[in-house]
Amino acid sequence: MADVTDAAFRRIVAKYGKSTRPEDWRGGPDVLWTEFVACDGLMSVGREHLMHNLSYTEEERPIVAQVFGAHPENFEKTARFIRELGFDGIDINMGCPERNIQKQGAGASLIKTPKLAQEIILATMKGAGDMPVSVKTRIGYNKNELETWLPALLETKPAAITLHARTKKEMSDVPARWEHIARAVEIRNELKSDTLIIGNGDIKTLEEGRQKAKETGCDGIMIGRGIFGNPWLFSDRKEEPTREEKFKVLLEHTYLFEEFFQGTKNFAIMKKHYKAYVEGFPGAKELRIKLMEAENGREVERIILSFTR
Ligand SMILES: Cc1cc2nc3c(=O)[nH]c(=O)nc-3n(C[C@H](O)[C@H](O)[C@H](O)COP(=O)(O)O)c2cc1C
Repeated sequence: MADVTDAAFRRIVAKYGKSTRPEDWRGGPDVLWTEFVACDGLMSVGREHLMHNLSYTEEERPIVAQVFGAHPENFEKTARFIRELGFDGIDINMGCPERNIQKQGAGASLIKTPKLAQEIILATMKGAGDMPVSVKTRIGYNKNELETWLPALLETKPAAITLHARTKKEMSDVPARWEHIARAVEIRNELKSDTLIIGNGDIKTLEEGRQKAKETGCDGIMIGRGIFGNPWLFSDRKEEPTREEKFKVLLEHTYLFEEFFQGTKNFAIMKKHYKAYVEGFPGAKELRIKLMEAENGREVERIILSFTR
């Protein structure tokens, strides 16, 4: 997620999302994705200004780089580059509804140009070599187009397709329609394809995700907004995090963000996280308001300390 799942937050999710159950030897999310990065930008002289979006730490593996664009030749070169950077996979964004992304013919706009979408996947595969290539998309542009859009994608044999169970037109304004994920699995099976289908949309707990996977037969679940302020989500722990735990993680997250991104990313990005962490206890609203004024980690720590004193 752009301006959310940067390396600092992913490291927090990888650490606090570890399972608390001894029988679950691995725990945590099975795979993490980067924020999306522009292929055209990566293949231009402006590359160095984008590289902070592709930083990652070993704790986050398996880690997949997500990219967007509309020029197959740049996808091929980007895939080669992403592979050299040591990523475990490359994911192509074909679902973003933002106007400035669509204006480039990228993101959800590619649902309207399936031939170009196919060319892009094939070019990415050429550059990726043995690194898996996947696609993240929606069920259609203005209406449900699974019956044509999904077979077009499957024809190119990507390793996985993550389906956000809404059309582009629906943005995130209606509840995700998981019955379409079940249909996507059927289409995949009818076509005897090996591509994994990952369902996405509105999942807030592991339990809910497992239930949806069972109901639809999909191979995996992607969780986006559910991890906001809740890096414990993947840990299966039953008890709610205490206020003190939230403060500890908020500060750790803040200092990691500064360590990784000082001078490259705007500190204001952290404010979204503060809104999510600081919730559900007396005085939370007043504390949130104070945190919105903070400009660095030291100020955040001072505000939290004076709140708890
Ligand atoms: C702030 C924000 C940033 C997002 N950035 C991306 C992105 O960079 N790439 C992407 O594929 N989806 C992005 N999404 C969409 C999510 O991945 C996901 O498809 C959507 O939020 C629905 O799933 P959820 O209900 O689990 O969040 C973003 C969503 C939000 C709210």
